[in-house]
Parts: sequence; C-alpha cells; structure tokens
Amino acid sequence: MRPKKTVLLTLLVNGQRHEVAAPQHHTLCEVLRDKLRLTGTKQGCDKGDCGACTVLVGGQAVLSCLTLACAVDGPVTTIEGLGGRGTLDPVQDAFDKCGALQCGFCQPGMMISARGLLDENPTPTIDEIRNALSGNLCRCTGYTKILEAVLLAAAHGNDVDQSYNDMRRDRVAVSAFPDVPPGGGLLIIGQGKSQ
Ligand code: FES
Ligand code: FES
Repeated sequence: MRPKKTVLLTLLVNGQRHEVAAPQHHTLCEVLRDKLRLTGTKQGCDKGDCGACTVLVGGQAVLSCLTLACAVDGPVTTIEGLGGRGTLDPVQDAFDKCGALQCGFCQPGMMISARGLLDENPTPTIDEIRNALSGNLCRCTGYTKILEAVLLAAAHGNDVDQSYNDMRRDRVAVSAFPDVPPGGGLLIIGQGKSQ
C-alpha cells in the first residue's frame, strides 16, 4: 500500500494563522476538528447533505466536509469565530432573542449560513433566507424561529436590540410577514424537508 502523503497547511482561521501537517486527502472539517480542536463545526453526514459542517471561506458559506483542506484559499470563519470576546454576533443575539436556539449539531451551521447570507445581502427577503439555509437540516424541530431570527438580525442594519424592541412594540411576529403563512406554522425551507 502506498503511504498517504502528508502536506503542511497554512490556514487563517478566525483571525489566527495556523500551520498544520495533515494528510493531503483530509477535509477542512477534519482539520478544523481533529487538528485545531475547533469542534463547533460538526461532522454530521460527511457527504454534503446536512449542512452541519458549514463554515465561511473568504466570506462564502461552504460545506467543510466536501472541501479539501489543502484547497482552501481564503480566511476561514467557524462558529467559534462569530462575535468577539464576550460579545455576540448579531445573528447569535437574534437566535437567542427569538428562541431559535436548537441543538449543537444543526445550530452552528445554521448561524454560519445566516452570517454568510447577511454579509452578502444585508436585507434578504424571506425566500432568500429560506434559500440560503436550505442546506441546513434539522431532523427534529421546525424552522419558523430560525427564519424570524435571521429577519431580526437583518432588520435595521443588524441593530438587534432596536429591532427586537420594535418587533415587541409592534407585536410583529414572523407570521405577520406577508409571505409567511399565518399562525406561525412550521415552514419548509429545504428541498425534501417537511417540518
Ligand atoms: S457534515 Fe457536511 S453536509 Fe453534513
Ligand atoms: S438537528 Fe438540531 S435541533 Fe434538530
């Protein structure tokens, strides 16, 4: 059997430069988790179906289980890199305020996808949010609160406190948005998903 080739990688992750040796065929997900111990990025299906491994590379949301670490060309942001020391990213804050926090497997990827969307498009429509998060699966609960949280983070230039207060004052819930079904019904945001 031929020996597996090891390569020396230089990665910029969450603002920190890392040099790591890893087998050439290892994915970004494996390197983040196994070499850098950044276990917030989850290895779910490991074949591109669930979105649990989503990270930002150069500001774009990518599936780290389908990305070779040696092919990474740009700074990487994982869930550990959202927000700052002692401060939440507006996406994290909005998920908290909306009660959209779910399990540790699906949540990091959802937040990273949301951050990638808002960096590219600060005022997305509900359909654009659905589309951006369509690759992030939750097998056990719904998506309504998540959509509400991304709308909240997007509102008023990501001023979450102001947006949340406005929503409470005006009694605006996600079900009141014109293209969301009334009654807060659970939504289908991904292909083949029905929650
Ligand atoms: S672990 Fe990458 S998409 Fe599921
Ligand atoms: S998979 Fe995380 S709450 Fe369902």
